[in-house]
Amino acid sequence: MTRVVRGDGAYLHTGDGRRIIDAISSWWVVTHGHCHPHIVSAIQEQASKLNQIIFAGYTHDPAEEVAAQLMKLAPRGLDHVFFSDSGSASVEVALKMALGYWHNIGKQRIRIVVMQHSYHGDTVGAMSVGARGVFNAAYGPLLFDVTAIPFPARGREQATLDALDAACRNEIPAVFIVEPLILGVGGMLMYPAWVLSEMKRICEASDVLFIADEVMTGWGRTGTLFACEQANVIPDIACYSKGLTGGALPLAVTLCRADIFDAHYSKDRTRTFFHSSSYTANPVACAAAKASLDLWQDQESRQRVASVAAMQEHAIDPFRADPRFANVRRTGTITALDLETSDPGYLANIGPKLQAFLEGRNLLLRPLGNTIYVMPPYCVTAADLDQIYAGIRDAADALA
Ligand SMILES: Cc1ncc(COP(=O)(O)O)c(C=O)c1O
Repeated sequence: MTRVVRGDGAYLHTGDGRRIIDAISSWWVVTHGHCHPHIVSAIQEQASKLNQIIFAGYTHDPAEEVAAQLMKLAPRGLDHVFFSDSGSASVEVALKMALGYWHNIGKQRIRIVVMQHSYHGDTVGAMSVGARGVFNAAYGPLLFDVTAIPFPARGREQATLDALDAACRNEIPAVFIVEPLILGVGGMLMYPAWVLSEMKRICEASDVLFIADEVMTGWGRTGTLFACEQANVIPDIACYSKGLTGGALPLAVTLCRADIFDAHYSKDRTRTFFHSSSYTANPVACAAAKASLDLWQDQESRQRVASVAAMQEHAIDPFRADPRFANVRRTGTITALDLETSDPGYLANIGPKLQAFLEGRNLLLRPLGNTIYVMPPYCVTAADLDQIYAGIRDAADALA
């Protein structure tokens, strides 16, 4: 176990005096860098003013400001915001909104369509719509049934679209949930924007709600602020978390269309959207999110995303000719590559060995089995990336 005492920018400082490069943004949350001064001072100021308040019948400026800024940044038409405190919770909220919508407008639609290899979180509903496997085998009896369509692997995109089309025609489902452009935990599996647009078109044709789980892909990771932008897709419901506060504090939002909100807005209290949690829209977390959103208003943050994407392409390119690696890939600021091994997959024996080797090089990387990926904060430098990829090459020399 490594004891970290301080974070700054792309670096973590350990109790024993080492400086580690955070090449995975501390599980994909840190965007502008650890302890960004603008976010830290917003947290300090808010913590001394109002640090918690019930968010039912009461509201506060930081939450209102976050909602107002999200309206400016998020896809047009997603003009209602529901706060929660983790990516998993934002997904539970999205699923409940979708089923609540059909229930409240008097239509019997309950089936949920998902994509194979997806991950949406570790709570029971989120696990149910995610891939079944090692993460949830023990909890199988708790999980509900869903219809899964295949992942649109290169050359097999049409099979995915056909499967979605068939799933949407047959006993019309309530909703389709998907990670746009990249399936993260499932192995950094990437697919093109045109497939995402086609999937939205198919759902629209059957009036099936479309949830974009942008918990991982949001906040610049895929090269645009949100992945859906690249496909010109406006989801019916969208989930954002992780980088929402710049990675400083836990917070999540689920955005939805007006008619989904309206279906729950009534004098009849049985139609209420029943979901609450003690720390909903915590003011300090909202102040951190507001500060992070301020930074996104600024062109500099977007330029950094573009420059990290270009530096990542430059760094990953030589690996395309290295026979020890397969599927060398990049979408926006995220790169991934699979180290050839006789036992691929999440439980590949090489995974923990790679991680330990890289830790020894003062690199925080956490391969998904034999899949190594790099998802740095946007303040990472070309020199940091050189060090990261040199570590990966040396790991292959030592372990492959
Ligand atoms: C796409 C996606 N959805 C949901 C989640 C769950 O988020 P959290 O860990 O904050 O509950 C994750 C976490 O990695 C994720 O990648």
